[in-house]
Amino acid sequence: MVYVLFGPPGAGKGTQGARIAAQYGVPTISTGAIFRDNVAAGTPLGLVAKDYMSRGQLVPDEIVVQLVKDRISEPDCAGGFLLDGFPRTINQAEILEVMLNEAGVRIDGVLDFEVDEEELIRRLSGRRTCGKCGATYHIEAVPPRKAGICDQCGSELEQRADDMPEAIRTRLREYQAKTSPVLAFYRERGLLREINANATPDEIYARVEAILGPATVG
Ligand code: AP5
Repeated sequence: MVYVLFGPPGAGKGTQGARIAAQYGVPTISTGAIFRDNVAAGTPLGLVAKDYMSRGQLVPDEIVVQLVKDRISEPDCAGGFLLDGFPRTINQAEILEVMLNEAGVRIDGVLDFEVDEEELIRRLSGRRTCGKCGATYHIEAVPPRKAGICDQCGSELEQRADDMPEAIRTRLREYQAKTSPVLAFYRERGLLREINANATPDEIYARVEAILGPATVG
């Protein structure tokens, strides 16, 4: 099972990806999360990625591509995986196609989560994340039981540096200019599955399940 989770910043890719991964027993490869872990650990990759990310710009293709190539060759990806936040440029999509062809793997579908811009801004500005376990909340739509504290591990919740107004504006512009053309790439290949994601997380997940079919694990 190989699916790409696609959509603008704040569309809910991470939220739905976590549910799909738990239900279908496949790992989620979130390039954004891998970069954030590297920034937190102060690795050379993190030092390069940090400036691009905090400004809301895309990290250069060659860096992202190598990272994905290494990750999908790990043993836990043998039974399938979800790509969250990759590919994000036509160049990345073309390289991924070659990479997967060489590995004899095919993409089952690209789930495109479509959300109005006003709602995206509301979701991004209200997002809070746990720096320790990575859980994601929203101050109104998906609040933790105790304000500011992670339900899962009890750590303090944080606001991502790129969820500030200026970085949000840049991310939405980057999406329109560089990422949205990837939709046509997958539409031409018959892989695009459009999902109206102006709905609650449960409603969206039901739409996802209708596309993926019944889980064999979970
Ligand atoms: P990345 O982490 O991939 O960020 P993104 O694509 O901007 O997506 P987000 O994580 O912001 O949103 P999401 O769609 O996962 O939404 P979420 O579920 O959290 O990338 C970050 C950066 O890394 C990039 O800007 C770039 O610099 C770099 N990068 C990463 N990949 C790259 C690549 N391939 N190439 C180059 N650079 C790359 O939900 C958002 C909020 O809404 C949460 O608060 C959530 O609780 C809430 N929410 C979710 N669903 C709903 C709902 N249905 N109703 C109400 N609220 C909801």
